[in-house]
Amino acid sequence: MVCPILHLHMHKRIERQSDWRIDRRSYSDWLGERASLFPSQLRLDRPNVRSAVFLALLEAQDQPMTYRDIGRCLARKRVTGAPEGVGSVPVMTLRVAVSELSHRLNRAPGFRLKTLKIGREARFQLQLDRARTASFLGVGANAPRLDPQINDPRAIAETLVRDGGGLPFSSLYSTYRAASWWLSISTKTALEKRNYEAGSIKAYGIREHLSQSANHVFFAALAPGEGLGEVSILEQLLRPKYGSPVKVHYWALDTSEILMMSHYQLLTHTFADEISRGDLTITPMTGDLYRIQEYLTSVPVLAQARTRCQSTLVTFLGNCLGNNEGKEWDFFKMVDAAFPRPQPLAILVGVSCERTQDKGEVVPENYTLDPFFTEVPRYLLQDLKLLESRNDRDECIESSEFIFDKSDLQYRALVPGERYSTPNGVCGSVYRFHYSLRHRLALKGGAQSVAKGTPILLYSIIKYDLDSLLRFIKARGFAVKAPPEYPIQRISEGNEEFRYATFAVLR
Ligand SMILES: C[S@@+](CC[C@H](N)C(=O)[O-])C[C@H]1O[C@@H](n2cnc3c(N)ncnc32)[C@H](O)[C@@H]1O
Repeated sequence: MVCPILHLHMHKRIERQSDWRIDRRSYSDWLGERASLFPSQLRLDRPNVRSAVFLALLEAQDQPMTYRDIGRCLARKRVTGAPEGVGSVPVMTLRVAVSELSHRLNRAPGFRLKTLKIGREARFQLQLDRARTASFLGVGANAPRLDPQINDPRAIAETLVRDGGGLPFSSLYSTYRAASWWLSISTKTALEKRNYEAGSIKAYGIREHLSQSANHVFFAALAPGEGLGEVSILEQLLRPKYGSPVKVHYWALDTSEILMMSHYQLLTHTFADEISRGDLTITPMTGDLYRIQEYLTSVPVLAQARTRCQSTLVTFLGNCLGNNEGKEWDFFKMVDAAFPRPQPLAILVGVSCERTQDKGEVVPENYTLDPFFTEVPRYLLQDLKLLESRNDRDECIESSEFIFDKSDLQYRALVPGERYSTPNGVCGSVYRFHYSLRHRLALKGGAQSVAKGTPILLYSIIKYDLDSLLRFIKARGFAVKAPPEYPIQRISEGNEEFRYATFAVLR
């Protein structure tokens, strides 16, 4: 007869050990969206001890783990659905799980489970080859989701000719030449802007606003381009200097595949640790920002992520608002509807502002038509031959005499500023970049065309009268944080100096 006290104690211990179970919610939180990053043989979509052991070993990276270490990690992640120490997974179960995992890993390319014996204790370590690590940590299988309709060159060519010469802003960075040109010229301004944009998070109390009830934030970065500002903002959320970090699901949406790839690479290189720990999950995507509601409901990974997040941050930086005339209300209305109450929402917007002298007169900008703006039509004409230049005898003009010739004087002419004012009272100055056609521009085969001499609109830049924009937003019931709470930034470029401001719309 075993001593009754001992018997009781052993019974309690077995009882405590046996009441563990895998907590699906905690497991899927921990896994995030990484399942598709790993070989299907591992079946990480199945929340069980073997999958959890894999995540624990992955998180430990180069640190060999004992069974007890693994058990503690699972309890810390609350994957066993019980507070630490109670109901932890029995070592025997871990033994079986580790051996099963080892078998599966042997069938998964690039992976293996290394067992080390230190004294009598076994330790386990996941071995990945570096190249595969980089891909599994972020580049590769789960690379940007590309929406083939976006920036279809035929559609752009048709729009350009059908609309009497209007190039959709969304297509401006769509060609490899345009995107690489942008990456090469934007860096100086982008570097100056990034710290200013990141500083807005603290200045406008955005983290407090978002994390009032959240430890998981949905971050939608609209039209980030190379997204230096967004990366600095992510650092504020994931590696805050003060207060506790939040988990982030980051959705980047841009129409330019090339800029999206460069942004995605920067993200995965900058946040490799956070991604491997599951603190940061990313959905990079090419698509049209004016269709976010559709994407949020039709893209499963976004819908899932939204269920895990308790608040939303939306960024729209770099005066993208000021590149689309008359769309101010459409933008805020769309974002407000896409991320409905009661979730806290913060929209951080960066816009260019008018420069004024002491008595309030607006200082005109010295813009000229940059060859960058004619890059897409040139690509459609020269590289893809979807467009033709036709002379007065309606003959197709050979490439040498092509229009969009950079030596053309119109590239040196100053672009006049015009008064900008919308029915909603938003005003400022607008600079419209036109190129006057030297010849008739036709769709291949000549079915549709734009007449010689037509000024085609390539790009617009609005310099906002910031107060008018903020007044308009406040009048629609939104709380706004804006300069002078956080000063307007002065950006100098050559002899030019620009004014750039961020403001936050908080709901
Ligand atoms: C001026 S650039 C970069 C802006 C960037 N946010 C910044 O702060 O520098 C504009 C970006 O907007 C993207 N874009 C333009 N129209 C878009 C649309 N409708 N949907 C998504 N992205 C768009 C372009 O591809 C480009 O990456």
